[in-house]
Amino acid sequence: MNMQTLHVDLAQRRYPIHVGSGLLTNKELWLPYLRGKQVLVISDENVAPHYLPPIDEALQSDGRQVGQLVLPPGEQEKTMLRFSEALHALAMLRANRDACVVALGGGVVGDLAGFAAACWMRGIDFVQMPTTLLAMVDSSVGGKTAVDLPEGKNLVGAFHQPRAVIADITTLSTLPQRELSAGLAEVVKYGAIFDEGFFAWLEDHTTDLLARRDEVIIEAILRSCQHKANVVARDETEQGDRALLNFGHTFGHALETATEYGSLLHGEAVSIGMLLAARLSAQLGRSTVHDSDRLGALLRRLQLPVELPGGHTPAYLLELMRLDKKSLSGALRLILWRGIGHAEIVRDIPESNVLAVLRA
Ligand code: NAD
Ligand code: GLY
Repeated sequence: MNMQTLHVDLAQRRYPIHVGSGLLTNKELWLPYLRGKQVLVISDENVAPHYLPPIDEALQSDGRQVGQLVLPPGEQEKTMLRFSEALHALAMLRANRDACVVALGGGVVGDLAGFAAACWMRGIDFVQMPTTLLAMVDSSVGGKTAVDLPEGKNLVGAFHQPRAVIADITTLSTLPQRELSAGLAEVVKYGAIFDEGFFAWLEDHTTDLLARRDEVIIEAILRSCQHKANVVARDETEQGDRALLNFGHTFGHALETATEYGSLLHGEAVSIGMLLAARLSAQLGRSTVHDSDRLGALLRRLQLPVELPGGHTPAYLLELMRLDKKSLSGALRLILWRGIGHAEIVRDIPESNVLAVLRA
């Protein structure tokens, strides 16, 4: 086992993010984070056949009472219906307050399982075992949990921090290339909003990232998670600069909703959204076109889409953006930038400017 560990320091407690290879098959590492006897493992149909059996075996041999819920894969399943199935699975397990939910999968499983853990008996433990790059660098860390409604992304949810995050890069060997690129979009986000040096490092390592060279992937995860841990420690419930992590997301969430959570992956929608946010910043005179071109070039080299899909009017996308959680009293509040590494929260952006970038 090869492992490095970071921590998320919260006001009340801290929890580890373990990153490395061979972690899931090392039960001594993760069993201690599961405090009670009862464990519900939530996964999906793409992940479970590869990675659930050894986890189940480790739990059984440790004398745990184990339930399993294996969901169909995809964003379209991050619903109230699947959430209620998770609660019923906890009920079937007769889960007590010291039961634990294990989220074994990507961000969809992690967000849904975390929300079920947040709600069962007003909150029980959960452990994140992310199996996509996106979940390793972003969704498994920081305690945002949610499900979608047809009206909008992540509209129902809670802040509920995991006991631990076990990011085993061995699982990335089965991840489709398109999903790897989607995860790289969130990696680029950290460079774009906080760290020009990291952005430049990504520009220098696109080939190794796409080829999944272990050391390069581990470095990308650790540098991303360090940024996320820092901002979550400062602002756990997004009263302030945690909102910077949503660079590109107001546009992106509107696109995901418009496409009915079907054709665009979350990371792909974020890729398009980040470039729109950068272009809007340039249009408003806050940053240079050179920086948005550099962002577009990096995203393209990472095999990510950067153009709006056709078929949705700018007015409809703007309407969806108004329901974003960052909007206040119906007024748009977006994350823009002053250039690479310098994101900022901007209020009262004229809707005519937003419509102009959506049209361009
Ligand atoms: P996902 O969970 O849908 O996983 C992507 C696909 O890869 C799925 O088909 C899944 O079955 C498959 N898969 C997962 N791991 C695999 C593996 N190791 N091998 C083979 N196939 C595998 O999507 P995602 O991109 O991981 O996460 C996106 C979700 O995360 C969105 O719902 C987004 O809103 C959410 N998110 C949440 C936060 C947060 O802070 N909570 C942050 C970012 C994104
Ligand atoms: N992914 C945004 C956040 O965790 O705040």
